[in-house]
Amino acid sequence: MQDLKKGRLIIASNRLPVILKKSIDSSYKLSHASGGLVTAMTPVLKKYSGVWVGWAGNYLEEDVGVNELLKKEEKDLNYKYRPVDISLNDYELYYKGFSNETLWPLFHNMPGYCTFKLNSYKAYQKVNKIFAITIMKNLMADDFIWIHDYHLINTAIELRKSGIKNNMAFFLHIPFPPLETFNRMPWRVEIITALLSYDLIGFHTELDKNNFLEVIEALIEDAVFYDKELDITTVVSKNTRHKVGVFPISIDYNEFSTQAESKEVTRITNDIKSSYAGEKFILGIDRLDYSKGIPQRLRAYRSLLAKNPKLRTKIKLMQIMIPSREDIDKYSELKSEIEELIGEINGKFSQLGWIPIQYSYDSLSRTELLAYYRASEIALVTPLKDGMNLIAKEYCAANIDKDGVLILSEFAGAKCQFKDDALIVNPYDEESVVNTIKKALSMKAQEKRKRMENMQNNIKKFDVFWWVDSFLKAVKK
Ligand code: G6P
Repeated sequence: MQDLKKGRLIIASNRLPVILKKSIDSSYKLSHASGGLVTAMTPVLKKYSGVWVGWAGNYLEEDVGVNELLKKEEKDLNYKYRPVDISLNDYELYYKGFSNETLWPLFHNMPGYCTFKLNSYKAYQKVNKIFAITIMKNLMADDFIWIHDYHLINTAIELRKSGIKNNMAFFLHIPFPPLETFNRMPWRVEIITALLSYDLIGFHTELDKNNFLEVIEALIEDAVFYDKELDITTVVSKNTRHKVGVFPISIDYNEFSTQAESKEVTRITNDIKSSYAGEKFILGIDRLDYSKGIPQRLRAYRSLLAKNPKLRTKIKLMQIMIPSREDIDKYSELKSEIEELIGEINGKFSQLGWIPIQYSYDSLSRTELLAYYRASEIALVTPLKDGMNLIAKEYCAANIDKDGVLILSEFAGAKCQFKDDALIVNPYDEESVVNTIKKALSMKAQEKRKRMENMQNNIKKFDVFWWVDSFLKAVKK
């Protein structure tokens, strides 16, 4: 792991990795989040010590003893969790409002889903200031501050306003939009200026980085660029320098592939396989989000069945959806649209003893997830737009039998790494998705193995620890 020059690490993300959950007896307990960011940050925090700042799941007006619970949690750790105190109203406007109804759709290049409300933007500024104040209360002179994702773009500018000079970096976990889309935002200059308060700004892909540079060129008059063609570009504006780089996030490959081999996963995999004996099993797993292209995928599957009657009873689509942002209207409308489509397809094509789509709307345990990855012959990862898409990487890491085919959207960041070995599709092009599924269904074992091995070697080499390392290396440059 890269050495920081000196000092500790301060991380900020919307949520802390430990979050309060109400138990049945109405008392609050902390529950641990899993996922890429936690896997990536935990070893770095252990190495440098420091503080993780984030929302712990409670609101200012509730007295749930969050500090005591977090203190217990930190007892054996050499780093601390520091929660931010935010009122329910401010959190809703900042999280549901500006983060998820403005920035999320805008940055995914889906401006039709955006709302632009001044009170949400004001709450976003206010909450980002609370994050900055919480960081300042815990900050030491040489600490390195690493802020994550679109919820917290404004945190650095708030810190700078208070005279904080520490080294600050930002990583955007979602895409960055083209200029024309970005320009629709009434606060475009404010947001791009806020991003230019960081010393290093990281993106998943070249495309995101170039979009960002194009926005700066258009909106920041005095900006000068150096090394535009290199991995790390420098932007100078108002006498400050900012590095901009590409760092594709990944997973802990070894952990996924080792767990996929476990007895329990193997047992569930065999159960799934035997319950679908004779059917080729196609898998879709997504957080329920309009950026994931689930209705488009279902329509392509409907067209596959309509045009290829011989495939009926021979294939099955398992569509697993992880509940997400349920109290945002667009998400609940999407859920109804998907359920209607599934009902229609199952109604139209089902036969005695066979239904074309099995569907679940629930979170999965890691064991179940790995078993579904292993049991499926094809994974359909077809987002309309995605920063990276870690499902694609997890699917490959778990495919220890090397007999799966990854069908991947050309609009997922992961495409940059898998363009030669996944089957790449345009999710808007129904015809091409249909043909690609047919190609996957008839692919020879040897070709599947070769493609899968290439993707696995790629993920093994560029895993999540490589991601952290390459980011920290850029911090030091
Ligand atoms: C994306 C974002 C993350 C976010 C996750 C789940 O991956 O980049 O920052 O945590 O979606 O969304 P949620 O709103 O549930 O945190």
